[in-house]
Amino acid sequence: MTADDATGARPEGAIPSAVRTVYGPDDLGSVPVFRGGFINFGYWDGISLDGPLTVEDRVRSERQLYRRVLDALAPAGEGRGRALEVGCGLGLGCALALEEYAYDSVTGMDIHPDQLARARRANAALLGAAPGRLRLVRGAAERMPFEDGEFDRVYSVEAAQHFRDVDAFARECARVLRPGGRAAVASFFVPGDETRPDAARELALRLDSFASGLDVARPLGALTGALAAAGLADVRAVSLGPSVWPGLDRYLEGLDLGVTWPRRFLRSYLDGLLDYYLVTASAP
Ligand SMILES: C[S@@+](CC[C@H](N)C(=O)[O-])C[C@H]1O[C@@H](n2cnc3c(N)ncnc32)[C@H](O)[C@@H]1O
Repeated sequence: MTADDATGARPEGAIPSAVRTVYGPDDLGSVPVFRGGFINFGYWDGISLDGPLTVEDRVRSERQLYRRVLDALAPAGEGRGRALEVGCGLGLGCALALEEYAYDSVTGMDIHPDQLARARRANAALLGAAPGRLRLVRGAAERMPFEDGEFDRVYSVEAAQHFRDVDAFARECARVLRPGGRAAVASFFVPGDETRPDAARELALRLDSFASGLDVARPLGALTGALAAAGLADVRAVSLGPSVWPGLDRYLEGLDLGVTWPRRFLRSYLDGLLDYYLVTASAP
């Protein structure tokens, strides 16, 4: 089995069904909301929300979200060593990490074979021009097909809301990081440390992505606690909410979505049911 074929020994059927459909036949990256190649909600600081927002604004916000995450690992231009992105989607964030942060190599890993095929197409020029610097590998966050201590940095952008077993993800981060390595994870969680069945119920009523099982209503503390329990040190979480939700909603407002539920993300944030976080940790 080559690395590209590897699924970390998870059988094909282990892809959660909503994830399989949304990133398979439904191709979430092709819907108008996500036009441009990235599939995340963006980091909208410095982008005026007063006038109409364009696709270029949207892609700029998505690139900025990557920079916000990568800055937490190393300053731009100083990203030495090997980096791993978990849930890389179309791999455009891997390309950004290589181009702007100067990692020696970036490995993009995704659970979905269709996403990897799209990532290979999207990055064909880079794969050809810099063989070995970009690697695209199939694997699950919960069971990564890599050696112990293989990476200096591990990061993940808006994929952890899909993970079914965040304890296993945290253990794998701790395992594949070398001593002194760092991890950064950006995604949306229910605020607080405890499981909140009320919030989970309400999110499922408001947001189809929770009702369908695509997104998991998980407290922030489940990830921070799992990272600490896996042996990582200096676990910190900061809210990115003010820089994410209002801009996303303003962008959605200008689109002919055909459905109303995505506009309820902002309301859910304002009601304290959901927030967007950047979580960082270090391997001792
Ligand atoms: C919302 S997209 C984000 C893609 C990319 N990070 C970006 O910001 O453009 C989430 C990605 O995570 C992948 N994914 C979902 N569950 C995963 C898991 N357990 N392990 C690895 N990847 C997963 C999906 O296939 C999808 O490509």
